[in-house]
Amino acid sequence: MENTKKIIAVIGTRPDGIKMCPLIKELKSRGEFKVTVCATGQHRDLLDDILETFEITPDYDLGIMREGQDLFDITTEVMLGMRNIFLAEKPDGVLVHGDTTSAFASALAAFYLKIPVFHVEAGLRTYDIYSPYPEEFNRRAIGVLAQKHFAPTERAESNLLSEGIDRNDISVTGNTVIDALRTTVSGEYSRPALRPARGERVILLTAHRRENCGEAMRGIFAAVRRVAEERDGVKIIYPMHPNPAIRKVAENMLGGCGNICLCEPLGVGDFHKILSACYLVLTDSGGVQEEAAALGKPVLVLRNTTERAEGIQSGGIRLAGTSSVSVYRGITRLLDDRALYYAMSVAKNPYGDGRASEKIVDILEQFCS
Ligand code: UD1
Ligand code: UDP
Repeated sequence: MENTKKIIAVIGTRPDGIKMCPLIKELKSRGEFKVTVCATGQHRDLLDDILETFEITPDYDLGIMREGQDLFDITTEVMLGMRNIFLAEKPDGVLVHGDTTSAFASALAAFYLKIPVFHVEAGLRTYDIYSPYPEEFNRRAIGVLAQKHFAPTERAESNLLSEGIDRNDISVTGNTVIDALRTTVSGEYSRPALRPARGERVILLTAHRRENCGEAMRGIFAAVRRVAEERDGVKIIYPMHPNPAIRKVAENMLGGCGNICLCEPLGVGDFHKILSACYLVLTDSGGVQEEAAALGKPVLVLRNTTERAEGIQSGGIRLAGTSSVSVYRGITRLLDDRALYYAMSVAKNPYGDGRASEKIVDILEQFCS
């Protein structure tokens, strides 16, 4: 036990949870590490189901979530909370994921205490600091201070190399979200009503990005409503993000339409099962693009840029923009053009083989030995 290394794993939001849980489980399965899980509580309702699904109980929970919280609230509360935990635990390293404000503020707190930071899903970039906002800043800032960069793809690695990060500090591992699918896609729906009916083409929609709030979101919803009204045999399922600014517009523009199902956020098990059974995905989410690529589902990305250009290159993902015209055209083309649909659905998954967590822990073992 003397050589056991203490690692703190930080989880703040839904995607952090889904992508960190498989890694935490892998770390815990090896004797070399004592793993302390810290939930910031940036997300509450969205995170609890994930922790339950992966059977992980946080050792600490800062419980910072407030309705209408802004970036100042999240950053300061996470930093102060993490300072206390890091001082008490004195970890040998802190694992953070991706680009959320929980990850950025925790990494900065660790840096101030000179604790090594290990960055999972490192190197994603649009090189537009306002898209996604503030995530592009968060991930670049974590990149500046991290000691180990776990890049999901070679493209992410090459971004880091071009920023002057030492090649020896970067490892290409695949994305841990593919590992998560191994737990969630099998088994039954907890809500059988979500299972697509025979012959029905289900379009799964998610939309939550800060920079899409406002005109862009209205453009997206107008296109979706038009498709729903014009097409029989098409059902649109939209599990709404709890952000009140988005829900209000969604309920106004998409409510009361027979073939649009507006629902609460789904548990990750149900969400992944619908994803694996749906016809097509409309999303501004990052994680959903990766999962859909692994499950062979064509994706229209509701943004003008993506940091996941591998998906575009391999052919499974297309940028649909956010205007009602471009989103409408993107959807109807995929509903009508079988050859295009087929080509997108057989595109190669560029995000790994579902063993990213093992690779990351192998590297951490070497690093910490
Ligand atoms: C955050 C991340 C984003 C990630 C997204 C995943 C930042 C800056 N952004 O954005 O990268 O894609 O999570 O979903 O870290 N809310 C609830 N209940 C919840 C969660 C959120 O009511 O369980 C409300 C909050 O009170 C807030 C709003 O939703 O009013 C937005 O939440 P916030 O955590 O600030 O950012 P997200 O948009 O979720
Ligand atoms: N997700 C979920 N339930 C839902 C919608 C999404 O469990 O109702 C999962 C989805 O499988 C993916 C993650 O949430 O793994 C993506 O989170 P989000 O889109 O909020 O964030 P992003 O990936 O864009 O940072």
